[in-house]
Amino acid sequence: MPRPLADQVRAIAAQYPESRSAVMPALRIAQERHGGWLPPEAFEEVGEALELTPAYCKGVATFYDMFHLAPVGRRLVEVCTNICCGLRGAQEVLSAFERALGVQPGETTPDGEFTLRAVECIGGCGWPTVVAIDDRHRLNVTAGDVPQIVQELRHE
Ligand code: FES
Repeated sequence: MPRPLADQVRAIAAQYPESRSAVMPALRIAQERHGGWLPPEAFEEVGEALELTPAYCKGVATFYDMFHLAPVGRRLVEVCTNICCGLRGAQEVLSAFERALGVQPGETTPDGEFTLRAVECIGGCGWPTVVAIDDRHRLNVTAGDVPQIVQELRHE
């Protein structure tokens, strides 16, 4: 049985001079515990464990792309549309995912399987277009690659 979230968060906080410094890893753990997103109670749990207000915790979460304030699909497909990827066809890649999945960026497929997002730079600028699928990056993705990628994901 997993440790209670509050215990896990306090153990992380003990590694820092100030508990506030643990808010990012704490939010990450809370997101995992809540099925990939942060409902309002997650901010209460993290805030209580770190002696911070839920509003502070939510404020941090809203700043970073990797925290989700609404439910996401089982698979998260994030297409970088920032400058390097944008110059190498990111919009075409994004459009190909829209067609293959039948959703717009920010939406989840009706079966709850995929959430598609357009995101800012995810640190792979040398290999555009970069697509993050869950926590793994696919590099040099072209629009032509997308049907095969979606087919693979559907069979994993
Ligand atoms: S611009 Fe796409 S990874 Fe940096």
